Amino acid sequence: MIVAIDGPSGAGKSTVAKAVAKELGFSCLDTGAMYRAIAWRALQDGVALDDESALGAIARTYDIAFGHVEGDPVPRRVFIGDDEVTDAIRTAEIDRAVSPVSAAPAVREALLDQQRRIGNAGDYVVEGRDIGTVVFPDAAVKVFLTASDEERAHRRVRQNVDRGIGSIDYDEVLADLRRRDAADSSRATAPLRPADDAVHIDSTGHYIEEVIEQICKLAREAR
Ligand code: C5P
Repeated sequence: MIVAIDGPSGAGKSTVAKAVAKELGFSCLDTGAMYRAIAWRALQDGVALDDESALGAIARTYDIAFGHVEGDPVPRRVFIGDDEVTDAIRTAEIDRAVSPVSAAPAVREALLDQQRRIGNAGDYVVEGRDIGTVVFPDAAVKVFLTASDEERAHRRVRQNVDRGIGSIDYDEVLADLRRRDAADSSRATAPLRPADDAVHIDSTGHYIEEVIEQICKLAREAR
């Protein structure tokens, strides 16, 4: 069974997806981390972000894998090839690089295969931008999760502090997430948009626990 959670940056998808997976006993897949890992590899290799064929080659060459911290059922560690990039993919530099990387059709095609292979291996909560529309169009539950721009920016700032990555400027974060939403929504291949049959949830002003409970209820009803 697949529970698809799509939405713009910072809407709370990761937190919600991981908590829903934990409560339902599902695995979870963060597809944004996969695009981030490709962006990281491209920057390491000095690949130009508009060189689609080189980006596609990276996505076809490297396997992306997820791992657990001991005692935690949620796979929070991210690897590309032999490199662990768990923290390295959460920087402002990667935030800026990831949209052009994810707009490259060759990258999307290669990651689509990996995403379907992972998700088809069991019960999964899968989060991203095109999960309900492209990756798993037959998902049993589809959620489109949003929040106001300002709330999303505040959450991103807090998240970085909590992760110990350091503080980032609120205005910069707000501008970056608006830029990224615009890029993700306007690209030609698999743009960010809700599936026709997605349940829309706006988390602005709501406790995240309410959102988690609502999605778990949808999943239980769909079983
Ligand atoms: O979810 P997160 O902010 O980590 O995603 C990073 C970027 O990866 C997004 O801005 C988007 O460009 C891309 N992405 C995508 N399709 C997905 C998941 C993420 O294009 N399914």
